[in-house]
Amino acid sequence: MERILVLNGPNLNLLGERDPEHYGSRTLDEINGDMAYLAARLSVELVFLQSNHEGDIIDMIHSERKSCQGIIINPGALTHYSYAIRDALETVGVPTVEVHLSDIHAREDWRRTSVISPVAWRSIVGKGPAGYTEALEELVGYIRGGGAVRD
Ligand code: DQA
Repeated sequence: MERILVLNGPNLNLLGERDPEHYGSRTLDEINGDMAYLAARLSVELVFLQSNHEGDIIDMIHSERKSCQGIIINPGALTHYSYAIRDALETVGVPTVEVHLSDIHAREDWRRTSVISPVAWRSIVGKGPAGYTEALEELVGYIRGGGAVRD
């Protein structure tokens, strides 16, 4: 059974109460629950981590690098400046889908740059919680298809 890491960065623990106009009303537990339901149907194992600390996210990417086959990550605001997370993802070379609930390209200028996108196989933005389940379906297809050309 494939194992996939689901990483959420700073402030995403407050989903449901944080800026619902941009991030909706669902909590992270509810979103993770949807993913777990889909994972059971797809027969994949998910490992969840939410952290407000950049180093925790990097440590998890390192420690799981040989036991997971895919990564789904919403790095929160770290998306826009964490070269350390970018380098960790590039170093481990595990296929990664970047997810953002909001459309980061249609918001403030500083949100439009993602330093993660160049090392991600795919980025899904602006689809709300559905972006996470789409990421899971696509990533499993990619892994089981033996890997396709990155877009
Ligand atoms: C976010 C977008 C980021 O700019 C923001 O800092 C977040 C959430 C999103 O999911 O839309 O924390 O990654």
